[in-house]
Order: sequence, then structure tokens, then C-alpha cells
Amino acid sequence: MRAHWGILGIFVGLVAAEDGLNGWLRYAPLPENLRPSTTKLPSLIVALNTTETSNTPVSVAAKELQAGIQGILGTQLEIATEATNTSIVVGTIAAYSDKYRELNASLLEKDGYWLVKKGAKVRILGQNERGALYGAFEYLSRLARGDFSDVDIVSNPDAPIRWTNEWDNLDGSIERGYAGPSIFFRNGGIVKDLTRVAQYARLLASLGLNGIVVNNVNAKPEMLTEINIDGLGRIADTIRPYGLQLGISLNFASPQLLGGLSTFDPLDSQVVAWWTEKTNKLYKRVPDLAGYLIKASSEGQPGPLTYNRTLADGANLFAKAVEPHGGIVMFRAFVYNHHADWNDWKFDRANAAVEFFKHLDGQFHDNVVVQIKYGPIDFQVREPASPLFANIPNTNMAIELQITQEYLGHQDHLVYIPPLWKEILDFDMRVDSKPSLVRDIVAGRRYKKKLGGYAGVVNVGTNTTWMGSHLALSNLYAYGRLAWNPTQDSKALLEDWTKLTFGHDRSVLDTITKISMESWPAYENYTGNLGIQTLTDILYTHFGPNPASQDGNGWGQWTRADGETIGMDRTVKNGTGNAGQYPPELAAKYENIETTPEELLLWFHHVNYTTRLSTGKTVIQHFYDAHYAGAATAQTFVTEWESLRGKIDTERFEHMLFRLKFQAGHSLVWRDAVNGFYRNLSGIPDELGRVWNHKYRIEAESMQLTGYVPVKVTPSETGSNFTAIVVADPTTGARGEAVATLDVSPGTYDIAINYYDVTDGRAHYGAFLNDEPLLEWIGDLEDKLGHAFSTKLDGHSATRIGIEGVELRKGDVLKIIGVVDGIERAPLDYVSILPAGIVD
Ligand SMILES: *[C@@H]1O[C@H](CO)[C@@H](O)[C@H](O)[C@H]1NC(C)=O
Ligand SMILES: *[C@@H]1O[C@H](CO)[C@@H](O)[C@H](O)[C@H]1NC(C)=O
Ligand SMILES: *[C@@H]1O[C@H](CO)[C@@H](O)[C@H](O)[C@H]1NC(C)=O
Ligand SMILES: *[C@@H]1O[C@H](CO)[C@@H](O)[C@H](O)[C@H]1NC(C)=O
Ligand SMILES: *[C@@H]1O[C@H](CO)[C@@H](O)[C@H](O)[C@H]1NC(C)=O
Ligand SMILES: *[C@@H]1O[C@H](CO)[C@@H](O)[C@H](O)[C@H]1NC(C)=O
Ligand SMILES: *[C@@H]1O[C@H](CO)[C@@H](O)[C@H](O)[C@H]1NC(C)=O
Ligand SMILES: *[C@@H]1O[C@H](CO)[C@@H](O)[C@H](O)[C@H]1NC(C)=O
Ligand SMILES: *[C@@H]1O[C@H](CO)[C@@H](O)[C@H](O)[C@H]1NC(C)=O
Ligand SMILES: *[C@@H]1O[C@H](CO)[C@@H](O)[C@H](O)[C@H]1NC(C)=O
Repeated sequence: MRAHWGILGIFVGLVAAEDGLNGWLRYAPLPENLRPSTTKLPSLIVALNTTETSNTPVSVAAKELQAGIQGILGTQLEIATEATNTSIVVGTIAAYSDKYRELNASLLEKDGYWLVKKGAKVRILGQNERGALYGAFEYLSRLARGDFSDVDIVSNPDAPIRWTNEWDNLDGSIERGYAGPSIFFRNGGIVKDLTRVAQYARLLASLGLNGIVVNNVNAKPEMLTEINIDGLGRIADTIRPYGLQLGISLNFASPQLLGGLSTFDPLDSQVVAWWTEKTNKLYKRVPDLAGYLIKASSEGQPGPLTYNRTLADGANLFAKAVEPHGGIVMFRAFVYNHHADWNDWKFDRANAAVEFFKHLDGQFHDNVVVQIKYGPIDFQVREPASPLFANIPNTNMAIELQITQEYLGHQDHLVYIPPLWKEILDFDMRVDSKPSLVRDIVAGRRYKKKLGGYAGVVNVGTNTTWMGSHLALSNLYAYGRLAWNPTQDSKALLEDWTKLTFGHDRSVLDTITKISMESWPAYENYTGNLGIQTLTDILYTHFGPNPASQDGNGWGQWTRADGETIGMDRTVKNGTGNAGQYPPELAAKYENIETTPEELLLWFHHVNYTTRLSTGKTVIQHFYDAHYAGAATAQTFVTEWESLRGKIDTERFEHMLFRLKFQAGHSLVWRDAVNGFYRNLSGIPDELGRVWNHKYRIEAESMQLTGYVPVKVTPSETGSNFTAIVVADPTTGARGEAVATLDVSPGTYDIAINYYDVTDGRAHYGAFLNDEPLLEWIGDLEDKLGHAFSTKLDGHSATRIGIEGVELRKGDVLKIIGVVDGIERAPLDYVSILPAGIVD
């Protein structure tokens, strides 16, 4: 008997171009030297399907095993019904016990699997069908990594909830998505062709993830129309064979907005009846619906507080509706006042979660899980663990992590995030002075709760890279693996992923590991250090630098930076009291500036720029140095990656090279903007004389301009010398020229040109040396990077392009011509003429 090739044809593309579609499930042929002698290989696959339908996780597992072994080893195994000594048997442990011999299943927990491989005999037995599929993926991952050793392992998930959250909107757009439109929705409904959804489900299942909340937490009531409920049913049908359950985000005001009721008060009987009916309808179409995700009374969203009801009233409304169906309610703890008074020294957004939820502890139904962002603010580059984890022991909890890089460079910067997540997961809250690791709390172990786990905000799009950047997928991979087992090492996970994604070349493995492991520390260095948060533009697109945007508004991401001092005073003795929300041991540690970890210094304390750190450096000098060090590290990513030319397929090599070059340039924008901002604010010069002193630069405004005019950049620090130039005539096709006569000693130089690439315009540029063309380019990063930055000249649009190894002599004439397109008036900031080895 020969099985069909892929239930939804999803293995098509397995051997096609390396466009990223198969992620880490490429099943690339294993190099000869890593193959075992053929005698040790299984010769058959036996699938112990418990049902007749072929769309069950066990039958998917059988086909995946078949496809994987075909890809990795080039051997076509048949799917048979009778096992031999050299077969793979995959199924539930119950089915195996029925058919062969009674096995002791007591070590298996829900969704767990038992993988036994002895020579050519392989048994993959799940506690349920889903577990069998997970075991099959684990076996294939071993083969793909060239690991043929015998094993006998039982693997159980650490927590029952292992979900992704997608912030996809019904119109097909994705909030904080950087890889094209939604794979789920378009034009107000569910897409017809769900092929990509099946492919996505396959990737998630291979990690042991078991739920997808498909729509944005800022939910539209129209999600629940008849036709959309049916569409959701189609999504559920598509992901079910992969062991994944569907979850949906709800708009709290739906009974009013969609149902036409006069109220959405959670205690109103009509409202209760409306939700009950809707829920029953949903379960009729999707009997295994995982449940609901609720963002309520947050950032302007409707919620129970509208009616002076408690957040528990709001959560329990849904809990009661899904309870008869076995569903659960994820209720986000992201509730805070975003119209806070920034003049109030004692006010603190970081206090909000504990203030809103602590007194409700014990009032949530058993099937409610409070979903808590890892830190008290919002996915910043560095935050302490949220104090809420230590404050509601009688409530189920899940941790919310962000895989999409909202505050971490939008996938245009390489940032491998698991080391950050691990710091939080491994963090000991010391509740009652006992070990209380965050990962034990969210697994339900610490407080003996049945429910708990992980929600990862992913936001994949239709781009074949899924997340926009090939290297960004390591974050999704490691997220899933950590949700299964958070004790794993983030570097080891990265190495697994790299082998699966890029193959077995040692230098490829070492290089990707090196740059990825350096990426978070580097990003923290050039964006915001000492716990000051990611100093991005919080009022606009959360991408480039704008430190001033943190303060002076109601959003509460304050730094309290002024001419002499910086940092949030979160002490009990003189500040917001946030340190006191932690259990006593930690509260004492954070209250005292001497015992506060330096990476969180400015999170908890308001200090002078001249305050000295343990290194003896002042805070301001540390800022300068860290920004220089981080940006310097980012430059090395390019050279490291270039060393892999020819060792990675061209498509993925060029794609990443482009992005890493962008990052290298943008890290300099970050460095100069943040350093310039604090240089101006503090009045304290850089001891090493670098800030505001760029001797290799020629400011565009000081070149000979024809058709170009100087403009002030806002925020000023995102322009070198605070000034850029744009073509005076805004008409598409109008042109300007900027000319400089170079004053350099003869030699070889790199030329860097900093310009602004705004969205909605594709200006043309040409650089000429003594009238010979040097470089031509287009301001089309919105196409090349695949998402919008900014329509203005600022820290989002500021970027750099370079020409390496140009022979120059004194008196050479450099000319740049810019041609307007749309709103893009060919803006230029500066040119750097850099001797070999210098980056500035
Ligand atoms: C079990 O799954 C395999 C592989 O999909 C399929 O060929 C077979 O028909 C299924 N068996 C039963 C009894 O449904
Ligand atoms: C399976 O292996 C055992 C031990 O090596 C051997 O005795 C037996 O004959 C084998 N059975 C088959 C069906 O190959
Ligand atoms: C199954 O295994 C567990 C743990 O190894 C053991 O405690 C239990 O007695 C075993 N049950 C049977 C029926 O053998
Ligand atoms: C909620 O309570 C506040 C005061 O506690 C009151 O002013 C307001 O009218 C109440 N709102 C509703 C909808 O009951
Ligand atoms: C993926 O995004 C890149 C830009 O990063 C773009 O060039 C490419 O066309 C996109 N591919 C698809 C299939 O959307
Ligand atoms: C204490 O708080 C006040 C604001 O109420 C602030 O101005 C002052 O700097 C703080 N003192 C210290 C030692 O941080
Ligand atoms: C900060 O500077 C002020 C004024 O110069 C000084 O009184 C204060 O002690 C300094 N604080 C710290 C923590 O160094
Ligand atoms: C970050 O900055 C610190 C302080 O300058 C430096 O010691 C460290 O090496 C930098 N790390 C990276 C990865 O840039
Ligand atoms: C320095 O800061 C002041 C006050 O924030 C601002 O008005 C000014 O434009 C800044 N100057 C420069 C050169 O950045
Ligand atoms: C900086 O810009 C000003 C005009 O805003 C200009 O007068 C000055 O020459 C520029 N400085 C340099 C170094 O180009």
C-alpha cells in the first residue's frame, strides 16, 4: 500500500527554491558522511490510526514520516498495517496496547509521547494522537540533524497551554506584522484557500504548540457573523489534523455592536444570553474550539469597567459560556490607564497589572487564565519580570511573549530573543521566600493550578519567509520548544534550528550561532541600556529612535530624563512604590540602588547622569560607550555573514545580507540619535570625543546644492547636524544635485551615504565620482524590507547605503543626484568618506 503524498499538497516546494516556506522542516538530503549504514534504517511505517478518517494527527504523522525520510535519506517507505522488526510504529499508546502488547502508560501526560528507537525498530507512542505527531516530528528532527543514536525517552509538555496569538485583522492587515498580509483573513472574511494555514499549522505542530488565536486582540465584532463563524470552522478543520485548536479574540462590546443590544454589561441577562447563544453556535461549528482571548478595558477597548463591573466579572461571563464545552478564557492582564498624568511622580503604569488584578485573586473561574506580558510595561528590550506573577496565587496564569519584533527592530534587525525570555522564565520571584521560578508559576506547578502556559505573539504573514526575515524564524522555533520545555538552553535550541534550516556546514552553524547570540545584547546596547527601555518612537511606529517620545504623554513609558537626571523612581521610599509589588526579598533588592542589578538601574531608580556604575563609568558615559559598542557589534554581523557566501543558497544568503547591512546602517542611526539626544540634554560631552564629532562626514547641507534645499529633521537628533536636504521642487521627476570636492589623502576608502527612505515614494539616486557613475539606487526599502516605516524624515526612515573600496585622491568630485518620486523628495543626510577599517 502506498500512501498519498501530503494531505493538502503541502509538501510541494520541499525541494524547490529556498524561499523559507518550509522553515525548519525542509528535510534536506543529509550529507553522505552523516548517513548511517542502510541496514539500520526502518523499512516500513505503520500508522495506528484510531479513526477511519485520514485527517487525524496519526495519519498526518505517518505521511510526515514518509515525506521526511524520503527527503532526508532518499528512501521511500511504505505505510503498512503490520509491523516488522524494522518498522516505525506511530500511534497512541492505547492503540499500540490494543494491537500488540500492554504498555505501562503512566509516565505519559496529556500530549506527551514516548519515543523508542533501537536500531531499525522505532516506536512513537503518544498519550493522545497529538502526542504521537509530536513524537514523529521529534524523530524526524533527529534524523535531519544526523542523529541516529538509539533512544528511549518520554517527553511531556511543561504546560497545557502552548499557543500562538496572531494579531491579524479581518481586512487582512496585521498589527505589528512585518511579512505581508494575513494568511487567515482578507476583505472582512476568512480566505478561501487555506493552504498557507495548513503549512503554518505543520510548523507549529512540529514544536508541540497546540493552539492558535487567529485574530487581533483588538477584535472586530464582525468576527462573529454567520459567514465568519463558518470561515473559522474551515480554519479549525484545517489545523485540527495537526493537533492544533482554534482560539479567537472577542470584542467585549459585540452584544451591542453586532447584536444590537443597548448594553454589553457583563452582568446583564440579555448580554449573558447573547454570549451563550453565540458560543453555542461557535461550538456547533467548531466542537473543539480552544476558547477565547479577551483584551478588555485596555487602551480604549470596551470592557467590564465601562459598567463599573470588575475584570473578573468580565472574564467569568465568557468562562461560563465556554465551560460546558470544555473551553477556556485567556484574559489579558494588559490593563492600564493610558491617559496618565506624567507630572505625577508617584504614578506608574508598571503598577497597573497588580493594582487591577491582585484584589480579584480567587474570583476567576477555574477555566480562566490571566495572560501576563513578561514585563510590567510592554515587550521592551529589558524589563524585570512582571510582579503580577507573584501576586495572584489563586489564579491560573500564562506568560505572553512577543515573537514579532515590535520593539526589537521589526525583523529588519537580527535579534534572537530567547536569551531575554529565558532570563524571565528562569527568574525566581521568591514568593514566601521559596523558589518560585516564573516558568514554574506559569506551568501551574508553583501554586498547584491545573491550567497555565504560554502565549506567543507571532504575526506571520503571507511572505514565504513567514516573518519577513529568514533568521527571525529561529525565534518562533525556540518559542515553541521553550513552551514545551522551558529548561532548554537558548543556544542549543538555536543550533538545532540552524542545522535544520541551513544544513550541517560547521562555519554556517558557528557563524549564525555567534551573531544570533550577540544580537540581543547588541540591540540593547544601541537602543536603550540600564533598563531605560527601548528608546523608540512610542507614539508612531515603534521602530527607530525617538527618546523624547517616552516622556510628556499619558502612555506611562516614562524615563524622567531631564538636564541632570534620568530614570524612573520606582522605590517605595520616594517613588512609585513598584519595587514594593515584588515579594519581600526582591522588594528589598530593588528598593536599594546598591543591590539593584545594573541592567535595571534606570528601571527602578532616578539617578544623576554623573552617577557612577560598578565599572567606574558614569551613567552618561556608559550610554555613549554602550551605543558605540552595540553598533560596532552590528557591523560585524555583515562581515560574519559575508564569510558564508557559497555555503548557503543564494536566495537566502542575499536576503539576509541585505537585511544585515540595513541593520548595520540603522544601528548607527540609533547610536547617533540616542547619544546626540542625551548629549544635548545633559550637556556632558563624550569623554572619548565621538558624539557630535564625525570627522569623516560631509554634511549634505554643506555640499554645493543645486535644486536641493536644507531642512531641519524632527526629532533633531535623527539628522546629522540636525539637518538634511531635500529636492526643493516636490513634483515627481524633479531633481537636485549635491556636490563635494574631496579633501582626502590618496587611498582606498569606503563611502557611506546616509539618506531617508520614506514610504509611498521611490526616489532615484545616483552617485558619481568625477562624473563616472559609482552607485545607483532607489528609495524602495518599503518593498525590499516589506513593510512601512514612516512618511517623514526621522529615525525610522533614516538609513545608509555604502560603496566599498573606492580609490580616491584629493580634489576628486563627488556628486549625488536625487530625483523625486511621490512624497519622497530624495532626502540626503550626509556622506562619510571612511578609511579602511573605520566605521562612523
Ligand atoms: C491511517 O492513516 C493512513 C495514512 O494517512 C491511511 O492510509 C489509512 O487509510 C488510515 N487507516 C485507517 C484505518 O483509517
Ligand atoms: C525479529 O528479531 C528477532 C531478534 O533479532 C528475531 O528472532 C526474529 O526472527 C525477527 N523477526 C522478524 C519477523 O524478522
Ligand atoms: C507503571 O509504571 C509506574 C512508574 O514507573 C509504576 O509506578 C507502576 O507501578 C507501573 N504500573 C504497572 C501496572 O506496571
Ligand atoms: C461608575 O462609578 C462611578 C463612581 O464610582 C460613577 O461616577 C459612574 O457613574 C458609574 N458608572 C456607571 C456606568 O455606573
Ligand atoms: C517577501 O518579502 C520580500 C521583502 O522582504 C519581497 O521582496 C518578496 O516579494 C515577498 N515575497 C512574497 C511571496 O510575498
Ligand atoms: C524624590 O522624589 C522627588 C519628587 O517627588 C524627586 O524630585 C527627587 O529627586 C527624589 N529624590 C531622590 C533622592 O531620588
Ligand atoms: C545627584 O546630584 C545632586 C546635585 O548635584 C546631589 O545632591 C545628589 O547627591 C546626587 N545624587 C547621586 C545619587 O549621586
Ligand atoms: C555592550 O556594551 C558594553 C558596554 O560598553 C560592552 O562591554 C559590551 O561588549 C557590548 N556588547 C555588545 C554585544 O555589543
Ligand atoms: C536640544 O534640546 C532642546 C530642548 O529639548 C531642543 O529644543 C533643541 O532643539 C536641541 N538641540 C539640538 C541641537 O538637538
Ligand atoms: C550644520 O548646519 C548648519 C545649518 O543648519 C550649517 O550652517 C552648518 O554649516 C552645518 N555644519 C556642518 C558641519 O556642515
